[in-house]
Amino acid sequence: DIKAVRGRFFDFTQPVSHAGELAQSARIMDDGLLLMEQGRILSLRPWSTAAPDISPGMEICHFPGKIIVPGFIDSHLHYPQTEIIGSYGNQLLEWLNTYTFPAEEQYHCPEHAGEMASFFLDQLLRNGTTTAMIFGTVHAQSVDSLFAAALERNMRIIAGKVMMDRNAPPELLETPEHSEAETRALINRWHHNGRLSYALTPRFAPTSSPDLLAMVGGLRREFPDLYLQTHLSENRHEIAWVKSLFPDHAGYLDVYHHYGLTGRKSVFAHCLHLDVEEWRTLERSHSSIAFCPTSNLFLGSGLFNLQTCWDHHIPLGIGTDVGAGTTFNLLQTLAEAYKVGQLQGYCLSVYEAFYHATLGAAQALALDGVLGNFMPGKEADFVVLDPAATPLQRLRQQKSTDFAERMFALMMLGDDRNIYQTWIQGQPAYCRDSTVKSGL
Ligand code: GUN
Ligand code: FE
Repeated sequence: DIKAVRGRFFDFTQPVSHAGELAQSARIMDDGLLLMEQGRILSLRPWSTAAPDISPGMEICHFPGKIIVPGFIDSHLHYPQTEIIGSYGNQLLEWLNTYTFPAEEQYHCPEHAGEMASFFLDQLLRNGTTTAMIFGTVHAQSVDSLFAAALERNMRIIAGKVMMDRNAPPELLETPEHSEAETRALINRWHHNGRLSYALTPRFAPTSSPDLLAMVGGLRREFPDLYLQTHLSENRHEIAWVKSLFPDHAGYLDVYHHYGLTGRKSVFAHCLHLDVEEWRTLERSHSSIAFCPTSNLFLGSGLFNLQTCWDHHIPLGIGTDVGAGTTFNLLQTLAEAYKVGQLQGYCLSVYEAFYHATLGAAQALALDGVLGNFMPGKEADFVVLDPAATPLQRLRQQKSTDFAERMFALMMLGDDRNIYQTWIQGQPAYCRDSTVKSGL
């Protein structure tokens, strides 16, 4: 059963190690035919040469005027913070105490977790996000609900139970022993169950005792193919706090590095105030970074330095960091990344932006062999973008014939209205116009 989609395609054929190589890796096929079978890509070819691939009676979904890109990858966000998105007035540590921890306490309840997991994953799909690396709460139930909902939707999701044993409300604390037992059970239930992967998820150094970090390091050695996700160097007060909690360590990253938490498949969110040694440690350990521009601006945390990240060859994904981030939409997130660059004299091209949300993020999550572009064998997760969803966007698109210029304007003006369809494993999973019609 072969599926066929025709339209304009845009992807990157291979990972790059310098921003300057992106133009060569970019592939823009103005009129292409994508063939898929059993959820994977068979081929992408120019329509003009595709005739031999088309069998009589084959149904072809044609998207004239649209742009088809690989599914967006959100490298860092928190599903239990969906309901506190856009909460007023605080920076990181006060924001955690005022809004985040009370919201996360609700996830001891399986009904609440189940409802919110479904709502959350549907938000990803309506924003064109097909893969994400996600924090649950400290409750194992939160992750069970999320993975079950992801399995129903066939989505490729990486997630884990938050681990924390100090400096949070008692309702959200656990012992390292309890944390380990629950984490082991979750790994058994969900890791490599379909397209699901488990991520060890110590929240951040301030909510972790040395014993807890040592336990996480032990699990990481025992299960080398697990992911690890945490926060690093987001806020100046947070950094000072880590120094006082771990006085014997050289710095914030050294705490994680000491316990064996760096390495391939380790994703560190934020990384705003690193010193040279910390950049080098991330590079040498083959760790990855999640850049979360809307969150970093919203909490007043700081400006991520894309140039330094390229200079150290550190794989980078973009993250919304909902609910400190202010949108689920990666077009809006990339637009904010562009503005973060502007404030530092860095000019983020539209190629680089889309790379960070697709193949670059796939590489940062060690998934570039599995998805992230339209190469044969890849999983067929993609987004059909409508570049002209509003009168203003239509006007702007008509002003130019240059592809990069039009994509850039789409990125700067875009939001969920531009997500026309989202496909998962070769099947439509979200269609804007049918949800509009049914009022969802
Ligand atoms: N650092 C520790 N926990 C969190 C969180 O939930 N959100 C953000 N943005 N930073 C954190
Ligand atoms: Fe976060």
